[in-house]
Amino acid sequence: MSDSTGEMNATNQQTRVYEDVFEMLPSEENPSPMVRINRLNPAASFSLYAKLEWANPFGSVKDRAAWQMLQDLEGRGEINQDRGIVEPTSGNTGISLAALARARGYRLKAVVPNKVPKEKKLMLKIAGAELEVVSDELCPAPGLGDGSINLAKTYAKAQGDRYAMPNQYENYQNVAAHIQTTGPEIWRQTEGQISHLFVSLGTCGSVTGIAKFLREKKPSVKVIAIQPSEGHDIPGLRNLSQLEASKLFDRSLIDEILEIDFELAYKRALELCQTEGLLAGPSCGLILEGTRHVVERDQGGCGVMVFPDNIFKYTATMLKHLPELEEGTSV
Ligand SMILES: Cc1ncc(COP(=O)(O)O)c(C=O)c1O
Repeated sequence: MSDSTGEMNATNQQTRVYEDVFEMLPSEENPSPMVRINRLNPAASFSLYAKLEWANPFGSVKDRAAWQMLQDLEGRGEINQDRGIVEPTSGNTGISLAALARARGYRLKAVVPNKVPKEKKLMLKIAGAELEVVSDELCPAPGLGDGSINLAKTYAKAQGDRYAMPNQYENYQNVAAHIQTTGPEIWRQTEGQISHLFVSLGTCGSVTGIAKFLREKKPSVKVIAIQPSEGHDIPGLRNLSQLEASKLFDRSLIDEILEIDFELAYKRALELCQTEGLLAGPSCGLILEGTRHVVERDQGGCGVMVFPDNIFKYTATMLKHLPELEEGTSV
């Protein structure tokens, strides 16, 4: 909002009114909130914080990569009213890209594996995406398989005049988003005190970008990635055997990779909801479980967990893993 002198009143949160949704996107001046974990922190000598990425305007950490990739395509004149965007996505990136694209006046085609639940497909449509659903055989892996990535690439090639493809798995803008926003936000919010960073692995834009920024500022920061065990069904995440699809994975930036039984992701997410009042999604639960092991082991430090999204999209998945939730829900 502008004051009487016409200057942006960007830093006064008490009076801030945003001019449009783009101004709400996270940046050093407008960081996503960070909150201390109290009851689920196993060591009082360790300060533990969660960075709540669901507070971003489209509900997840992917708002950052989507915005950065879209601005890059715009800047290079790759998209316009006639030439839209095509992207393989079943989830958060698609929601962010669809909402951003439509608010900017572009089309967004989301190539989505058949196995993705209807609720998610509807969510993408509500956000403004055109769906292209890929059949089962094309999508053998949990989450996004190569089938949808390749099909989106085919679209971008065969109908190059109609679509540009950001490709979050290979696009360095996905990393740059975190070097320019998430990293500096965490640095400022912890006043440089951060000793441990805890993140999950999907496209690896988050881990690579945040680690790059923090390592430059403070080489002693420990970067700990938490991955789900084989056979997991946690949306947005990949375990090591699935990471080849992402060219953004840089092992040299990660100190430790912890593998956690994926069932615990759902249990810990529920605990976050019912103990800390944080309505956190399954990937947050997984991160918390890995973090607790490190906090118990290291005892002292200042840790930041990047919590990718909240629980609202996952009630059906929660029920599948925690069937006791059914109790008392019908007459
Ligand atoms: C719910 C959720 N958690 C974690 C991640 C991982 O983030 P990144 O792709 O930056 O590795 C994603 C990414 O899609 C996600 O949707």
